[in-house]
Amino acid sequence: MCAMISALHHLKDSLSAEAGLHGPLVPLEQTNLFARKIMDLVDAQNPVHQIRSLDALQDYVDSSVLVPIDAQRTHAVFGEGNPHANIMLVGEAPGADEDRQGRPFVGRAGQLLDKMIAAIHLSRNEIFIANILKSRPPRNRDPKPDEIAAHLPVLYRQMSLIQPKFILCLGRIACQTLLGTSAPLGKLRGQAHPYHGSTLLATYHPAALLRNQNWKRPAWEDLKLLRQLYSAL
Ligand code: URA
Repeated sequence: MCAMISALHHLKDSLSAEAGLHGPLVPLEQTNLFARKIMDLVDAQNPVHQIRSLDALQDYVDSSVLVPIDAQRTHAVFGEGNPHANIMLVGEAPGADEDRQGRPFVGRAGQLLDKMIAAIHLSRNEIFIANILKSRPPRNRDPKPDEIAAHLPVLYRQMSLIQPKFILCLGRIACQTLLGTSAPLGKLRGQAHPYHGSTLLATYHPAALLRNQNWKRPAWEDLKLLRQLYSAL
């Protein structure tokens, strides 16, 4: 009887491992092509390879100083939302409100983002929102290349754990960083880019939309494209 129970446990463990449920046995990258391709972008020595859950990844971010701005922040802004989201939104970096609260897009731009999400019949509970940088750059300056290089592996790990079907980049920095291009946002938006087995779209950053009304129409077109592709899943 004991032997049978032990054999059943063994079978359950190996099935769970195959399904990627037990990280230590079968790394998740072996079970999902997108996850594997994304983690191939990260240096093999990077500690994020050893991290097997969003909670553990958040602990790592909270407790690490990877670049000087990490030591200056009030809160790290890891990102939040549905850990199984099909849609992931990627912004640039936390601002003052986000730094205070430790949550992404909670200031004026965030309020507009909430309206944009609602306009395509989605809510924050269905999606996951993250940023390229997890710490606020002083006076909201553009992220520096070494800051992006230090924080990008965390975003890649988030992506590999969440495995979204769609990634919507908010603004030039997110889009150029993920696509590895210096092409202007105006050329990158309005289309679906294949992205390691998922689909990446780009649109204007909500903070930019607050400054320039002329970008609202193209941004709406981008959101409708996302909705249309998502509805066809
Ligand atoms: N701008 C961003 O890019 N991200 C935030 O979280 C807030 C403002």
